[in-house]
This record gives sequence, C-alpha cells and structure tokens, in this order.
Amino acid sequence: MGKTEWFKEMSFYQIWTRSFADGNGDGIGDLYGVYDRLEYVKALGVDGIWFSPLYPSPNADYGYDISDYKNIHPDFGTLEQFRNVLDKAHRLGLKVLMDLVVNHTSDEHFWFQESRKSRDNPYSDYYIWRDKPNNWDSLFEGRAWEYEPMRKQYYLHIFSKKQPDLNMDNPKVREEVKDIMRFWLDMGVDGFREDVINFISKREGLPDGLPFVPMANGIIHYKDGPHIHEYMAEFRKVARKYHAVQIGEGPMTTVRSAMHYLTGKEKSLDMMISFDHMLADCFMTEYLQRPFSLKRYKSALTRWQKTLDGKAWNVLYLENHDHPRIISRYGSERYWKKSGKALAVSYLFLQGTPFIYQGQEIGMMNIRLSSIEKYKDIASKTNFARLLTREPEEKRLRRVHASSRDSARTPMQWDDSRYAGFTSGTPWFFVNPNYKTVNAAAEERDPDSILQFYRRCLSLRKHSRTLLFGRYHEFFPKHPKIYMYERVLEDNAYLIICSFSDKPIQIQLPKKYQNRKLQLMLCNESGQDGTSPVMSPYEARVYRTKISP
Ligand code: NOJ
Repeated sequence: MGKTEWFKEMSFYQIWTRSFADGNGDGIGDLYGVYDRLEYVKALGVDGIWFSPLYPSPNADYGYDISDYKNIHPDFGTLEQFRNVLDKAHRLGLKVLMDLVVNHTSDEHFWFQESRKSRDNPYSDYYIWRDKPNNWDSLFEGRAWEYEPMRKQYYLHIFSKKQPDLNMDNPKVREEVKDIMRFWLDMGVDGFREDVINFISKREGLPDGLPFVPMANGIIHYKDGPHIHEYMAEFRKVARKYHAVQIGEGPMTTVRSAMHYLTGKEKSLDMMISFDHMLADCFMTEYLQRPFSLKRYKSALTRWQKTLDGKAWNVLYLENHDHPRIISRYGSERYWKKSGKALAVSYLFLQGTPFIYQGQEIGMMNIRLSSIEKYKDIASKTNFARLLTREPEEKRLRRVHASSRDSARTPMQWDDSRYAGFTSGTPWFFVNPNYKTVNAAAEERDPDSILQFYRRCLSLRKHSRTLLFGRYHEFFPKHPKIYMYERVLEDNAYLIICSFSDKPIQIQLPKKYQNRKLQLMLCNESGQDGTSPVMSPYEARVYRTKISP
C-alpha cells in the first residue's frame, strides 16, 4: 500500500461542530468543546475526524454557505483554536479532514459582493451570470436563478439563493480553490471532503433541463459536466504534493460515473460518497418516503462492493449531517439497542473506510418537532412548502419528522443532565427528549451499550487484514429480512449475518460454512453462542473461520 493510501486502514468520525459540544456556554457547539472531547473520539477507535464546514458563514445552509474560506466561524472559535484542535488531534494520532465547498460560496462572500456590482470588475466572472435564466430549478428553493438589480442580470444558484454557484470555467476561480487547499494543507490538515464536487462543471450554454423533473431538472447539465475531470486533475495535483486524501461527495452519482473519478488516468479522488444505499426507504430525497426495503439496501451495497473491488475504495456510512438518524429509518426505535448494533454490523465490515457521524455511536434517533416553524433546515422547510402540497399539513409534517436533516443536527447527548450536557447555556436547537436514556455517559457505564459495541466492531475491523482487504460476497441477496455476506482473504473468512426482522427468523448457512467450526467474534444477543439456527429480532453475528482457498 502506497504512502498515499493510508486511509484504507482507517475509520473516521464526522463532527458537525455546532451541535457537538459547547465549550464557552453560548449554546453553540465550538472548537473549545471539540478540544475537550477529542479523547472521547479517540476512545471510539477511529483514526480521524471530518469536520463539516468550520468557516465564517451566515448559516443559510449551516456552514455550506461560506463567506471566508481562510478563517474560522466566530461561533466556533478562532484560527488559533483550530490549530490547537489540529495539534491535539495529531498528538492523539487522529487525522483531520476539512470540508471543501467550492461549487458555491455564500452571497456574502467578498467575491460575490464584488461580482454583483458590475459586469467589468475583477470578480465579475467568478460566478455564473446570464441575461435570461434557463428553466433549471434550485435543489433548495424555487428557480435556480436570482435577479441582481445592480448588475441587471441573473445569477445561478443550484442550492439556496444565498449560495451562488462559482464559475469554475474561470481559471482564476480554480486558482482560488487551489490556494484554499494549500492554505489548510500548509497548516497541517490531512485532506478534504469535497462537497457536491460532481456539480462544479456546467454544460456550455446552460441548456434547458428536463421539463417534468421537479427540483433536479437541470442535473443532466451540471452533474459530471464537460470539464469536470480537467478541473479535478488540477486539484489532485495540489493534494498529491501533500499526500492528502480527497473524498468526493457525489449526489446522484452512479457507480459507473464514480469509477471515472476513482480509477484510471482520470483518477482524481480517493473515495466517493455515494447515495444509492441511502435510498432504500425513499425516492431521491428522504422527504419522498417509501417503506424500507432490505433488498434495495443490500443490492446498493453489493453493487458498490463488487464494482470497486480491487480497483477503487468505498466510503462506508449510514449517517451524516444530511440524513435523518438511521435507527429511525432502517432499524426500529422499539428495538433501539439491537437494531442500532445490527446496523453497525451491516456496514462496518464491508470493504472501505467507515465514517461514523456524531451521535450515531450512541444510537441517537430522530426528533419530532410539533410544527414546521420549529425546524431550522432550509431543505426541510422548502420540501414541506413545495412537494406534495395537496397533502394535508399534518401528513407533510410527518414526512418532515421522518426526513429532516435537523434530526441529525440536534445537540449531541453527552449525559442525562440539563440539555444533555451539551451546553451550560441555552442550546441553539432542541435537544431530543430521549436524552435521559440515550446518552454517552450512560453508555460508557453499560458494557452492553451501542457505544461499546461500536468500539468492539471498529477494533475487530482494524486488527483483521481479512476485514480490511478481503473479497466481499453476498449470500441470499433476495432474502427480504437477512443480510449475509462474507469477507475472504486467502484461507481466512468472516461470515456476517444481520437480521432486519422484528420477529425471530430461521436461517440457513451457505453450504461452504456448514459443518465448519465457526468462531463467534461479535453478537448483539446476550447468551448467544452462535449455534442457534434462529436469529432473534435484529440479531447480528460476526463469525470467523478458516476455509480452503
Ligand atoms: C452537501 C452538503 O452535505 C449539504 O449539507 C449542503 O446543503 C449541500 N451539499 C450544499 O452545499
């Protein structure tokens, strides 16, 4: 494994700082809180942290609208405090990844403030301006174009009005991106998670999009656009100099198009965050729900595992700041503890680099707020106002309960004291009322907790070449309730079995595993020795054995 592939044996913890830990009592999570909790992160057994954007931002999209790329949001602290966090993380052996958001900036960024003034200033071509808009919709609100009276033109915003798209065709903009990368890499960060990176090159002429597709009608003209691989190659060159890792976020990417970024001459990313496996209970967005289908979940995972095997490397995740909590979606709140652990087993032993999102490791669940006004996330608000509007409000609010990104953004539940120990002040957002039982301190004390189970899973994975690098094969792909797969390296094999049923269920082992001595390495059912042919609700088992290669 080359020096640049250090990420393959690692796992990462994602911190969405605003809700992680408040160190100065103003109700907002910050880098002082992060500093104090780095030991907790380390003790989980991960090897690095991905920070969602820490930069100054008016928070129209909670940090994904950046107004200064080379500074730290005053809510979170100072550049100096960031350096303290970075140094301490490194001392603990944790890598640090920053979020690189360069498809768009905030409209409050200096570049945009200048660009909007006239058609002939040094920043006038930093954004995408037109006299007449095309028919594209914004993914977040209304049309993708906003009129700017000063310049008497429209600017493009694929996300909110406050997130104008940068004009990546302008070489000066690409130089700015590289400059931002160098700024953080020189400081010592270890790589980037690159936001909606497959959207940065738009088709020349910006033709109209598909007529009948709401919200994403322009996507055929801005996903994997004509110059994407040239631009990515430029950024890659910078990252390579520092042996930095690059992880792209690829909304609506297919495994086929992802391979262009991950392999061959055009290789420009080490990994791609895909979405296929997050659509097992919805269409396109979590707001458009359908019943969870284990088959859909499995087939998405298997497709990525098989296609990438030996050629590229997966990102493994079930939660991040953009998705509601996974137990509330693919698991069962009734079988909170068991389904939380089964979900962990279902993905942590696949081939790839696991990401764990803050609170996932203690089994945090969705919050249900009583009115849409209480939600903060722009996507939740606009989905509510814009999609399926013939449905009664009550029904749409239920959709928000099941889909809101805010469920992943409630304050981290540290203990059972007031506001879950997140802040000594008044928290900026609602704490999930279940914090009295679901919290890190209680799980620290309970040897059987979800937290301790995550630690065991991560440690098992880290210490096994087979779990890190072994070949993946799925058994019984059509089974609606059981996910079973193996990882094999030479004569070592792991067999992983997860039940997604809320009833006991009889299982059959694949032929090659029958009559073999199977050693049960992990299980979420107490008293289970691994010999029973019946799996209890949401039971998960990890066996190790020897096979003939
Ligand atoms: C993806 C980010 O993860 C999400 O939070 C954000 O709203 C969009 N990109 C736009 O930056």
